[in-house]
Amino acid sequence: MKKLNIGLIGYGFMGRAHSNAYLSVGRFFDLKYQPVLKAVAARNPEKIKQFADKWEFQSYHDDWRQLVNDAEIDVVDIASPNDTHAEIAIAAAQAGKMILCEKPLARNLQEAQRMVDAAQKAGVRTMVWYNYRRIPAVAFARQLIASGKLGRIFHYRAKFLQDWTMSPDLPQGGAALWRLDADVAGSGVTGDLLAHCIDTAIWLNGEMDSVSAMTEIFIKERKHNLTGKTEKIGIEDASAFLARFKNGSLATFEATRFARGHKALYTLEVNGQNGSLAWDLHDLHRLQWFDHRDEGVLRGWRSVHVTDGDHPYMANWWVPGLAIGYEHSFIHQVADFVNSIDEKAPAEPTFESAMQTEKVVHAVLESAQSGKWEKAS
Ligand SMILES: NC(=O)c1ccc[n+]([C@@H]2O[C@H](COP(=O)([O-])OP(=O)(O)OC[C@H]3O[C@@H](n4cnc5c(N)ncnc54)[C@H](O)[C@@H]3O)[C@@H](O)[C@H]2O)c1
Repeated sequence: MKKLNIGLIGYGFMGRAHSNAYLSVGRFFDLKYQPVLKAVAARNPEKIKQFADKWEFQSYHDDWRQLVNDAEIDVVDIASPNDTHAEIAIAAAQAGKMILCEKPLARNLQEAQRMVDAAQKAGVRTMVWYNYRRIPAVAFARQLIASGKLGRIFHYRAKFLQDWTMSPDLPQGGAALWRLDADVAGSGVTGDLLAHCIDTAIWLNGEMDSVSAMTEIFIKERKHNLTGKTEKIGIEDASAFLARFKNGSLATFEATRFARGHKALYTLEVNGQNGSLAWDLHDLHRLQWFDHRDEGVLRGWRSVHVTDGDHPYMANWWVPGLAIGYEHSFIHQVADFVNSIDEKAPAEPTFESAMQTEKVVHAVLESAQSGKWEKAS
């Protein structure tokens, strides 16, 4: 089998999720190329060496530029904070590499567009890690909607709730807390959490037309880890919006890091003419399904355990009834990417198609400022 040399940038949460995916994928999926953990890059030479040893990377660098300019690397995988995405992706495109990039694509629409332009100019394959599309129950929801089983869609509802930033003593900036620093993250929960909800929503229900949003910063100042000073907070702690989809359906979206008791509760529900479906990340193998065409006396919500060999991706795993987890969504995404390399149709979402999510994120932030409905596509 042909080899596909991966160069990973960043060894944090996503660096581990991606490395695990590259190592596992060939054992469970029939692949046209075998990913090879060729090199990893981050800034701390000691830590990057430890990571490279633990995850069996062949080499490591303390500057991502060395990795991007390494002729042996086929794919540059960007798993570093949002402020690094554009510079690395543009350099990788100019070096002719395939590019996988973590979400959100960039800190803002302009940066994201520059990445799309660079990749198009270089003619390189791209993909953004919106991994929730590859959870079997979510992929199954897409099949049900696409097959027309729900009929005309009237409502889409999604939320992503956390509570980890509620303490006013939590500082901003630096390792692990870069998400609270506007210069690094770009936006708060809109680009971080809602971007996932928006990507899934567009994938399931088509493009959005317009949005009306509100955001709030509950803690206005926090100590900055890098300067040591108390500094203004520029990212929103909570973000909620109404949306109109192009198919005529109405939607509500909410994300916050101030929902006490919630750690990572991503839920979605879709209501159609004939039926409804609902999904919950805490119980990620179940798809709740209601079919109004069932016999009246038996009508009710069914809880489908999405572990059958006929369900998306599941034939590659164990036997029906046995579950897989969060990390498998990344394995599925690698499998789809690798097997699409020689195909005309790329694995989705590409940089170009992920711009739809970037546009909605931009419109949500605009609307929260203007107090008006804003166009989202
Ligand atoms: N798909 C998902 O579900 C998901 C989940 C979490 C994070 N993310 C995204 O993944 C990206 C990384 O997030 P994370 O949670 O893994 O962050 P993290 O803080 O855990 O890790 C970031 C890594 O990037 C490295 N890094 C920072 N600046 C760098 C630079 N200039 N050059 C090279 N390396 C650098 C750090 O050393 C660290 O290893 C972000 O864009 C984030 O939005 C996506």
